[in-house]
Amino acid sequence: MSRGSDVAGMKKSVEEHAERFSEKAAEYDDSKSEEYHACASLVIDHADPTPDDVVLDLGAGTGAIALALAPDAKRVLARDISEGMMDEGRRKAAASGLSNVEFDYGEFRDPNVPAGQRVDVVTSNFALHHLDDAGKREAIRVMAGTGARRIVLGDVAFFESPDPSEPYYSPEVDDPATVGTLVEAFTDVGFAVVDVERVHDQVAVIVAERIGSGDEVPGAE
Ligand SMILES: C[S@@+](CC[C@H](N)C(=O)[O-])C[C@H]1O[C@@H](n2cnc3c(N)ncnc32)[C@H](O)[C@@H]1O
Repeated sequence: MSRGSDVAGMKKSVEEHAERFSEKAAEYDDSKSEEYHACASLVIDHADPTPDDVVLDLGAGTGAIALALAPDAKRVLARDISEGMMDEGRRKAAASGLSNVEFDYGEFRDPNVPAGQRVDVVTSNFALHHLDDAGKREAIRVMAGTGARRIVLGDVAFFESPDPSEPYYSPEVDDPATVGTLVEAFTDVGFAVVDVERVHDQVAVIVAERIGSGDEVPGAE
């Protein structure tokens, strides 16, 4: 997929999302809600990498998850479509002396993982809701296809009926799924959902563990 491509069903193209986030990158860290912080903290806790683990953080933004996990992991591959957000992340990594976090361009459905690179844990926080539900399913299939044993997804997701007046998403740019849709997407690719944390009626953390050896991902090519 090219960087500027418009994806069928997405409310904004990948390029428009990248531009939108790059414009607000400098203020991004100071603009987050209590629920965002609670969600990020749960994603970090559930990811729980070992010192040998390689973590892939998708929609990494300014590195809230990637930088927090780096001291406990071997390597963190931080992927995002917004260079402005990643520049903030790179600056913060350098300021903290973290040399095992690598920010690079990567889209959910094409995360730019080097060939032959092992991935043990995939994380994503507050980012997948930019894709429509078919795109989310495809992204979850790609996450499973990395071979990771655990995937931890924190995001805007509906436990009950969507309420557009709530502050956790903007209907013109965001497209959250129901928690049920996400759980089904994980089970479809051979993962068991072992925990669902309800941060808010519209904010969930889903923890999924691979069933079996990981040699086969149902439906993967
Ligand atoms: C709300 S921020 C979350 C950043 C970070 N995960 C955090 O917890 O602070 C959403 C991020 O998702 C990225 N993003 C949006 N669409 C994406 C896509 N299709 N592939 C990869 N990243 C995407 C944006 O550029 C942005 O940095």
